[in-house]
Amino acid sequence: MEKELVLVLNFGGESSQKIARKIRDLKVYSEILPYNASIDRIKNLKPKGIVLTGIHDVNTSDKNKYIKEANQLDVPNKVINSVDEEEIKNFIFEQCGCQGNWDMASFIDDSIERIRQRVGNKKVLCALSGGVDSSVAAVLIHKAIGDQLVCIFVDHGLMRKNEGDEVERVFKEQFNLNLIRVNAEDRFLNRLKGVSDPETKRKIIGEEFIRVFEEEAKKIGKVDFLVQGTIYPDVIESGGDEAHLVKSHHNVGGLPENVEFEEIIEPLRDLFKDEVRRVGEELGIPKHMVWRQPFPGPGLAIRIIGDITREKLDILREADAIFREEIALAGLDKEIWQYFAVLTDMKSVGVTHGKRTYDYTIALRGVTSIDGMSANWARIPHEVLDKISRRITAEVPHVNRVVYDITSKPPATIEWE
Ligand code: XMP
Repeated sequence: MEKELVLVLNFGGESSQKIARKIRDLKVYSEILPYNASIDRIKNLKPKGIVLTGIHDVNTSDKNKYIKEANQLDVPNKVINSVDEEEIKNFIFEQCGCQGNWDMASFIDDSIERIRQRVGNKKVLCALSGGVDSSVAAVLIHKAIGDQLVCIFVDHGLMRKNEGDEVERVFKEQFNLNLIRVNAEDRFLNRLKGVSDPETKRKIIGEEFIRVFEEEAKKIGKVDFLVQGTIYPDVIESGGDEAHLVKSHHNVGGLPENVEFEEIIEPLRDLFKDEVRRVGEELGIPKHMVWRQPFPGPGLAIRIIGDITREKLDILREADAIFREEIALAGLDKEIWQYFAVLTDMKSVGVTHGKRTYDYTIALRGVTSIDGMSANWARIPHEVLDKISRRITAEVPHVNRVVYDITSKPPATIEWE
C-alpha cells in the first residue's frame, strides 16, 4: 500500500499541530516541518500535498521565498491557517487524491516491519517504567523482534499501590516480555533517608535509577540498541530535526553513561500522545495502563512532604488508592487530568471514638489541564469529596484530617514538590 503523506509547513503560530492532528484523524499521515526546511528534504518525503500554515503577514521576503519554492513543486498546496474539517477534507481527498488508509493498525504493521529490518538479529534494551510511552514502545518492539528485546524495570518502591506487581504481571505474563524486575526499594529508601529537599530527592532518585539500570544492563553485556520513548511533540520542539535526537526523556534522569550501546531506537517518534495511547490499546495493553494519568518519575517521593519512610509511603499509598477508586466510581476519571493524594508533613489533633489523636493530614489534589503547563483545580462534587474524606480517615491508620487543594497553576504547581 502506498504511504500517503501530507506535509504541514509551519510558518509560525500554533496551528500546525492542530492541522497535522486533524489530517491524521482523517487517516492520512501528516508531518510538520519548519517553513525553511530544504526543498530536497521535502521532495524526498514525496508528499501528496502540502499545507502552508501560519501565514498571516508574509511581507517578509524571507518567508516569501519559501512560499514561492513550495509553489514551484509539482505537489498541490494550500494555505490553511485554522482547522476547518471540510476545508481539510476537500484539500487532502479532492485536491491531493489521498485515500485515507493510515490508522493505528497500519502504523503498527509498518513499525514492525521497519524495526525488524533495522534491528536484524541484534539486541535491544529498554527501561520499562510502566508509564504509557515505555510500555507501548516495549510491546511494539517485542512484537517485532520477540526475545531480542530485554526490558529492565527498576522498581524504586515509590510507585502507587500494587503498581510494581502489576507491571510485572502484565508484561511478563500477558505479553511474555523478557523482563527483569529489580526490586530496589531498600536502596532508594536508604539513599533518601532524612532527605526532605524536593530537588535533592529528585536528584538522588535520578542518579540511583541510572546506577541500578547500569548495573543490571552490565549483566546482560553489550546491547546494540537502547529504546527511547521520544514522541512527536518532542521531535517538533527540536525543530523536526532528522538529526539524532537525544532528550533526557527517561523515566527519571537522563541516558545512562556506562551502558554500551550503538544506537537509539525511538519507535514512537512519529506519534502524538493520544496516538501512542491508541496504539497501546490496539496492541492489547490494558486500558487503565494506556490511559493512566501522568505520574512523575520520582513517584510518591515528591508527594510526601519532608523525609520519606516506609510507613509514610504505606499511608500515602492507601489514601491515594481510595481517592482514585472513588473518582473512578463517580465517573470523573476521564475529565480530571491528574488526581492524587499528598502526605503533608503536618500532624494535628483529632478525635476518634472519644479518644484524642495526633495524626497526619492528607491533602487531595485534583486538576484539569490540557498539557500540564497550566492547570485549574478540579471542581469535584462535595458529596464525592465527603465520601473520600470519610473513607480515608476510617480506613487509613494515622490519618485524622483530609484537606482539598483549591489552588490552580500558576501560582501553585500540580505536584506539591
Ligand atoms: P508541576 O508539578 O510542575 O507538574 O506542575 C507538571 C507535570 O509534570 C509532572 N512532574 C514530573 N514528571 N518527573 C516527571 O517525570 C518529575 O520530577 C516531575 N515533576 C512533575 C507532574 O506530575 C505534572 O503532570
